[in-house]
Amino acid sequence: MTSEQPSHIPTVILGAGYTGRRLFSLLAQAGRPVLATSRNPTTNLEFVPDHLRIPFTLEDPTKWSNLPYRADLIWCFPAQPLQLVKPFAEYLRPRVQRVVVLGSTSAYGVSQEPSSYPPPWLDETAPIDMSRPRVQGEECLRQECNAIVLRIAGIYGPGRNPLDWIRTGRVGPSSKYVNLIHVEDLAAICLAALERGVPGEVYNISDGVPRTWSEICRHAAERHGLRAVATDHDSSPGKRIANAKMINALSVQLRRPDLFENLAGLGLDPIGPIR
Ligand SMILES: NC(=O)c1ccc[n+]([C@@H]2O[C@H](COP(=O)([O-])OP(=O)(O)OC[C@H]3O[C@@H](n4cnc5c(N)ncnc54)[C@H](OP(=O)(O)O)[C@@H]3O)[C@@H](O)[C@H]2O)c1
Repeated sequence: MTSEQPSHIPTVILGAGYTGRRLFSLLAQAGRPVLATSRNPTTNLEFVPDHLRIPFTLEDPTKWSNLPYRADLIWCFPAQPLQLVKPFAEYLRPRVQRVVVLGSTSAYGVSQEPSSYPPPWLDETAPIDMSRPRVQGEECLRQECNAIVLRIAGIYGPGRNPLDWIRTGRVGPSSKYVNLIHVEDLAAICLAALERGVPGEVYNISDGVPRTWSEICRHAAERHGLRAVATDHDSSPGKRIANAKMINALSVQLRRPDLFENLAGLGLDPIGPIR
């Protein structure tokens, strides 16, 4: 066991992509020791000093020992498949401090009942879909490593702009609810979870204001002069994700809670995935 104070324990960003990159900056700015992994560090970790880069692939157990002993871990890619996550979790258990896993609100099944509209609010006690590989992986990490699991809504921010999803026809007006979180807030929440989350607990992560795509498209037209190209016939109700546990238990104060205020400042979108 290490005798270091928590602030001296290094944090490893496992998979420093869109969110992990912001997390790395946030931790570095706070003066905390932080390292980042990639399957291809030379190409993908140009923002990380050489000595803080770790080559890591879940699929290659010979790379697991590259992780420092007794670090905190923030896991930033889908924790699947279970056949790999389970042996890795067993490897990690005696060697890791705190583990935070970035999961998804897709863990909650969508209500198929046409009568349930608007859809009910979902808190962390709502049933999860254990047939999903990433949910199996997240639950395994909770059991084996006491991991804190964040069930995250759609991530947006610079380079991932919902206006572009409308512009390019990926989404169109429909009565389906969507839940979102700005990546800057998400990075701060990951840090709050590491510092104040209860090991083994689950927290929903969203800005707390579910909106329908029709509402967002209407705003895009009125404020940004943007006409939706897709006629979206998606008749599913979507979900309404409750974020009270995140706000109260993690003492989170969102800095960018208002989607409509944030949209104006976002750049064009080269990738823009939403799951
Ligand atoms: N995008 C959304 O709207 C959304 C919504 C809810 C939840 N989430 C979840 O939130 C997490 C963070 O999302 P994000 O968009 O920031 O992720 P991201 O940009 O895809 O970054 C994750 C990084 O992890 C690394 N990685 C992927 N598979 C790996 C593997 N098998 N072994 C080792 N490293 C691996 C990749 O980096 P290298 O290629 O450099 O190795 C990848 O860039 C993900 O779990 C995502 O599924 C996303």
